[in-house]
Amino acid sequence: MIIKTSLLSILAFISFSHAGENLIIPPPNGTYGVNVETMNLIDHSRQDPFAPHPTPRSLMISIFYPSALACECQTELKPYMPPQTAQYINTEFSASGLPNDTLANVALSMCVPDDEITRQTGEFPIILFSPGFSASRYIYSMILQSIASEGFVVISTDHPFDTDIIEYPHGDDAVLATLTLNATDEQFGMYTRVRADDISFLLDALGGSRNTSALPCPLPPSLNTSRVAMLGHSLGGATTALAMARDPRILGGMNLDGTMWDSIHDSSTIGFTLAKPLVLFLEAANMNTPDGDYKNWYAQFWPSLAWKLQLELRNSTHFTFTDFPVLVERLVGFPLPDAVAGVLGSVAGKDVLRTLTAYMAALARMVLECTPSALLQRPSEDFPGVLYSNFLA
Ligand SMILES: *[C@@H]1O[C@H](CO)[C@@H](O)[C@H](O)[C@H]1NC(C)=O
Ligand SMILES: *[C@@H]1O[C@H](CO)[C@@H](O)[C@H](O)[C@H]1NC(C)=O
Ligand SMILES: *[C@@H]1O[C@H](CO)[C@@H](O)[C@H](O)[C@H]1NC(C)=O
Ligand SMILES: *[C@@H]1O[C@H](CO)[C@@H](O)[C@H](O)[C@H]1NC(C)=O
Ligand SMILES: *[C@@H]1O[C@H](CO)[C@@H](O)[C@H](O)[C@H]1NC(C)=O
Ligand SMILES: *[C@@H]1O[C@H](CO)[C@@H](O)[C@H](O)[C@H]1NC(C)=O
Repeated sequence: MIIKTSLLSILAFISFSHAGENLIIPPPNGTYGVNVETMNLIDHSRQDPFAPHPTPRSLMISIFYPSALACECQTELKPYMPPQTAQYINTEFSASGLPNDTLANVALSMCVPDDEITRQTGEFPIILFSPGFSASRYIYSMILQSIASEGFVVISTDHPFDTDIIEYPHGDDAVLATLTLNATDEQFGMYTRVRADDISFLLDALGGSRNTSALPCPLPPSLNTSRVAMLGHSLGGATTALAMARDPRILGGMNLDGTMWDSIHDSSTIGFTLAKPLVLFLEAANMNTPDGDYKNWYAQFWPSLAWKLQLELRNSTHFTFTDFPVLVERLVGFPLPDAVAGVLGSVAGKDVLRTLTAYMAALARMVLECTPSALLQRPSEDFPGVLYSNFLA
């Protein structure tokens, strides 16, 4: 639940056995094959509060969408990250022993769009995603692709000046993070409010109610953003809770191990009665501890929260809720060496994907389609790694 620990400071001195080779991540296991498009959305109504010069807030987003039936998939490899981003993040980890060009050589197995399925894109329910503080949206692509393969359009955004690096199209300069991890509670509250504004703008823009370019081919020109669900990690989890409280289009969400900073509550949220489902999915050993961050926060601010659930992923850490378990175990083998497991947890990458996909899909189907799910009602034998608790209820 911390966000103040930097992953790269502790992912120390691993001996990577698969340096420099192409690393192809296999396709997800859901009903659909998935493809991804990226897009720049500029909010001309809002100056970026963090930009050094007056500049409209400019988001880069990724849209993962079901593009063909999995069984009819024609695979198309796409780079895990664009080149500058891969190099930048790789360099951050090079002191930990990550060989140059490792990330640049990772590819995701996407699926060539099939006309018939792609034409239905507008009918698949939408899930938004907000990354952790300073984290690129790209380090969650495997998780998001996996969720999309269950029949969702999953849309992630970077948040300029807190995201490590954002590459824009048209040869614009990349934007690097300027906000630091040692921010105060008040600053994190403010960052979260800016992020929640990003989310509402994104819904306006993709829904066609704001002046932006149309969605990239082969997607339909706009999406129906009137009812969506949301997922977020760390500060993105807090963003999920705040965006849900503020925006009537977001009907439910899941917070992956994100601290709810006290100062997130400003005059626009205090007293807000949140009657929307929110799942808190915590790293190991946070459930029922005296460290009652979540419990207190919800008791204090959302007393009438109608439906709520707290889960804990056994053997996980804060960074388990990223693509790193999948990626690092493919580079160094599984089980992970102790030094790495101390940072990433000891959950197998496939279990991270399977678990987050199943619980998020169940939540989205519940809030968007009123489909009940046993997974959300009681502990499941299929997921022994998930500690289930409805003590908040
Ligand atoms: C799909 O299933 C296989 C076999 O169980 C597993 O190894 C793989 O990690 C799964 N992929 C995803 C994305 O869940
Ligand atoms: C890796 O890249 C860095 C920065 O580009 C460079 O200084 C270093 O020599 C490279 N290391 C290897 C082993 O190529
Ligand atoms: C945060 O860290 C940066 C550099 O690491 C330092 O310059 C700055 O003074 C610190 N800010 C606070 C509020 O401690
Ligand atoms: C959209 O915004 C751009 C930039 O502000 C402006 O040039 C353009 O005329 C606008 N288009 C419409 C249809 O409002
Ligand atoms: C969007 O979806 C909502 C609810 O599912 C529906 O009521 C509305 O008519 C749809 N809007 C459009 C433009 O299709
Ligand atoms: C957690 O890790 C321990 C030790 O590695 C292992 O024995 C246990 O089976 C794991 N629990 C789960 C639920 O994966």
